[in-house]
Amino acid sequence: MAVEIETAKRAAAQLAVKNHFPDDPRFVGIGSGTTIVYVVEAIKELGHDLSRVGFVPTGYQSKQLVINAGLVPIEFDALPDGVMVDIAFDGADEVDDELNCIKGGGACLYQEKMVAMRSKEFICVADYRKLQSRLLTKWPTVPIEVEPKAARQVMARLKVLGSKSAAGKGPFLREGAILKAGPIKTDQDFFIVDAPFPEPLLTSADLAGGTVANPVKGVWEVEELARTIKDINGVLAVGLFCGPTGPEARDAAVIGGQRPV
Ligand code: 5RP
Repeated sequence: MAVEIETAKRAAAQLAVKNHFPDDPRFVGIGSGTTIVYVVEAIKELGHDLSRVGFVPTGYQSKQLVINAGLVPIEFDALPDGVMVDIAFDGADEVDDELNCIKGGGACLYQEKMVAMRSKEFICVADYRKLQSRLLTKWPTVPIEVEPKAARQVMARLKVLGSKSAAGKGPFLREGAILKAGPIKTDQDFFIVDAPFPEPLLTSADLAGGTVANPVKGVWEVEELARTIKDINGVLAVGLFCGPTGPEARDAAVIGGQRPV
């Protein structure tokens, strides 16, 4: 099974780069996670002269990936004023029918969002497991990057917003998988709060079709939930990327690998 998933990730990455890598980009965003490794591999395989292209990483590991591939990294804050990134490639934890994404499974949230919002095109590269008609179907939580001192008050507010899994588990601080040595820290030295909700998130089409969100019961529409969480004091970034009509992902495209038969 593991090999099939890696094959699907690679297939998604190859297709994304083949169909979307621009002819002569100046700046290219490189996201985080395991799928993006295959994107960088596919970019290298193009065989183009990339010496004048600046690759904008979305975190420390993503920067190492760029450097190890022999590509030229450029920090986000070194981008010339007013200049957009031509295209950003990034992975996702779940993608819905409207190309809204959950991101942050790898804790690289804030910089991913900055690069996505500064990009003319955002290409979400995801294998078949990630494609679900509604968010929070298989992926269990909304990741939220939070200033450590505010974490408890953010979690308290999330509970009021109905953050609770179907099994009754509320929002929680993400711990390291191997060392149980307290909450993990992001590249910004912030915490990640994972917020479950009892129902998959509604899309704008659901609302247009007459389905009514019920925040009191924790039933939310994606963009409304993203805005509401972002408004909580202490929240740096919310792992909901709303596209293609939302503010973050202007031109999102999802490339899924094939489900193995
Ligand atoms: C990191 C992310 C990743 O892009 C997301 O978790 C997907 O990762 P992978 O490609 O390993 O499945 O948002 O915070």
